[in-house]
Amino acid sequence: MQRKPFTAPTILVTGSNGQVGFELRRSLAPLGRVVALDRTACDLSNPAALREVVRHTRPEVIVNAAAYTAVDRAETEMEAAFAINGVAPGVLAEAARMAGSLLVHYSTDYVFSGEGATPYTEEDAVGPLSVYGKSKLAGEQAIAEAGGQAIVLRTCWVAGAHGGNFAKTMLKLGCARDSLRVIADQFGAPTTAALIADVTAQIVSRAWLHGDREAFPAGIYHLAASGETSWHGYASEVLRYAASKGVALKVAPEAIEAIPAAAYPLPAPRPSNSRLDTSKLRETFDIHFPDWQLGVHHLLDQVLS
Ligand SMILES: NC(=O)c1ccc[n+]([C@@H]2O[C@H](COP(=O)([O-])OP(=O)(O)OC[C@H]3O[C@@H](n4cnc5c(N)ncnc54)[C@H](OP(=O)(O)O)[C@@H]3O)[C@@H](O)[C@H]2O)c1
Repeated sequence: MQRKPFTAPTILVTGSNGQVGFELRRSLAPLGRVVALDRTACDLSNPAALREVVRHTRPEVIVNAAAYTAVDRAETEMEAAFAINGVAPGVLAEAARMAGSLLVHYSTDYVFSGEGATPYTEEDAVGPLSVYGKSKLAGEQAIAEAGGQAIVLRTCWVAGAHGGNFAKTMLKLGCARDSLRVIADQFGAPTTAALIADVTAQIVSRAWLHGDREAFPAGIYHLAASGETSWHGYASEVLRYAASKGVALKVAPEAIEAIPAAAYPLPAPRPSNSRLDTSKLRETFDIHFPDWQLGVHHLLDQVLS
């Protein structure tokens, strides 16, 4: 059989120094030529520069991992949050449509109000509580308005080996403090940046680069590890696993005090229910989501090594 010569596609990644961006550099590398740009090389708050980067790079796929993620600071920096999370995704979607490329973008459980106790589906009504959530919802809407082929992956409780996150903070505090109090009435699934990056690569490879582009199932999808826990359950698992690896903790996992969110007020309100129903993503792209503990253990193995 005569094989077609393989021409490596160009994949543009923004926010390459973030938790997810860092993992995308690894997961997308076998698929093509990855052009991974950090904030200095590709500033999302500058629409003209952003268009120029896309024009110059001529990517077949754009993966937007850049975002304004300072949830509490966004309450007072509304303009910056909306420029980066609300406007820039629309600029990228427009540029992708004009170039005939696919845009992959990430959004968040914070687009929901967090009422109820069942996992949110893609069809559920949105109702963000915070400026950050509103700015991310504006980004989803800007992408839809721009048209073209785009996939929006809403995820939650992200942690990566590269960057700051809850798991690393708990590990540090568990070694340094005499006691720990952690919120026990907010629920979600800790999802690693590595899992998000791997799923992204699978979608891009199977459905876009090697699939029927005309039939590409664009739209919004929920992406999260399987299972659920509270922040308190998450912290307990982090310390339990660290202890099993010989880390000298000052706080025993079972000694972490469970507190209500009301006892730990923050500038930006958080949803109590961050559960995401991932059926649509699993069924459309044949993806299996491992239990959240597996990702957290893998992350800790990297952090502790
Ligand atoms: N973290 C979570 O728990 C979580 C939950 C749900 C959804 N998400 C979504 O998942 C995606 C990835 O999040 P993440 O956890 O990887 O975030 P992250 O670690 O905070 O990374 C975001 C990256 O965006 C960059 N950035 C900020 N402003 C920029 C600008 N004006 N131009 C270009 N780059 C800019 C940051 O650059 P610097 O390194 O220079 O600051 C950072 O590298 C985001 O869309 C986020 O909204 C995250």
